[in-house]
Amino acid sequence: MGFRKSGSVIRWIQVSILVLSSVSADAAQTPSEEKQAWTARMRMMAELVRSLQVDLADRSTSGEKERNQRLASHAAKLAKIAHEVPEAGLQARAADPDPTLRLLGASLSQEAERASRAFASGHPSYAKHLLNAVTGLCMGCHTQAPGREGSLISEKDATIQGLEPADRARLLAATRRFDAAVGEYREILKTSPARSATWEEALRSALAIEIRVKEDPAAAAALADQAVRSSQAVESGAAASSLKVRAQAWKRGIAEWNAEKPLAESAPAETILKSAEKWAKKGDQAQAYPMDQSGMVAYLRSAGLLHRYLRTRPEGESLAKALALLARVQIPLAELPGAELPQLYYSACVRVAPHTKVARDCYQGYEAEVRAGFTGSAGTDIPEEEMQRLKQLRDLAQPDAGVSSTKKRI
Ligand code: HEC
Repeated sequence: MGFRKSGSVIRWIQVSILVLSSVSADAAQTPSEEKQAWTARMRMMAELVRSLQVDLADRSTSGEKERNQRLASHAAKLAKIAHEVPEAGLQARAADPDPTLRLLGASLSQEAERASRAFASGHPSYAKHLLNAVTGLCMGCHTQAPGREGSLISEKDATIQGLEPADRARLLAATRRFDAAVGEYREILKTSPARSATWEEALRSALAIEIRVKEDPAAAAALADQAVRSSQAVESGAAASSLKVRAQAWKRGIAEWNAEKPLAESAPAETILKSAEKWAKKGDQAQAYPMDQSGMVAYLRSAGLLHRYLRTRPEGESLAKALALLARVQIPLAELPGAELPQLYYSACVRVAPHTKVARDCYQGYEAEVRAGFTGSAGTDIPEEEMQRLKQLRDLAQPDAGVSSTKKRI
């Protein structure tokens, strides 16, 4: 198994809580009020995330106690607001019927909640580690689809001027200031050492924005070119050549995308799905090994198309199959800031089409992800709580034994 993010076990616990929960909604607002309520929540979250980023970046010892108290209180507020986002998202379904918005909103809420509890139980460093991941979740949701540029936070804002460029870029990307974020990322690519962690994150984040939000192949190709040039500039060796191989694979992917006739606005759902499947295959062909990044461009295209397909409101097994493919293409994208968690989609897949073949495949994908998440040098050690959830999900996936108390909602 390839490299896994540190903290994947932590995320596991958080994700598992979502697995069998379901959100209900009592729509009592008019569509424009709903949209307003949604936007208002996004704005509140943006303000909170800005203040979190500023406090997280301040590592001085003076005022640390007050800072931690402020972080804890902001994390709790964020958890509360994010908790309401799935509701608001559901009510604003007319605006965006992608059912995965609810999963991501709930996931964000749980992450912030965990951080707030970690502060309360006296583990501030761990809490900060969790909070740092929150902006990734904002970005994950925002980069699912092409969308408009946000207007809330300005790169010239005095409160964020003191941040490191990478933190500022993350904040801008999290609040939908995509143009400003890409500007920061480009600057990082020019000024920080090629192949450093910051440089790699900047490259991947900028590519994800150009491909999924901006849908701009020319800008994406320029980034891939820059990566090829950087691979030549860094000392020769395995790292440089692997970057070059990857960047060349991205360039091929971008060229194919550019040559492709764009799908019409009115393209039928089936056509969108076929295209998503085709790009997933291209990704598989580009990958030399499971966690290789060569297929990134193709997988990003596939994921973007799958989210578009989900907006055509497929149901039952069609929905489950799309979720299964979405989960699969997210696995090699795990290194991307804001990567969506495959296990969220695998479990949703089981729940929307219980007792079917696709549910069983999804259960297997889910279980494999759990095992990978809990496997370390000491072997596989899956906590009892997680084992119970696995069992519940497995029962839901297995052929129906006549007991039919299934939930079909995500
Ligand atoms: C469940 C998915 C989801 C999550 C999670 C999410 N957002 Fe959003 N956000 C959206 C959507 C959808 C829009 C509306 C986009 C549009 O209008 O084109 C939006 C819009 C915004 C805007 C634009 C407001 C404006 O008009 O300038 C801001 C700011 C924002 N979100 C901040 C955040 C922050 C900060 C987080 C993380 C704490 C976050 N969002 C998490 C889906 C999400």
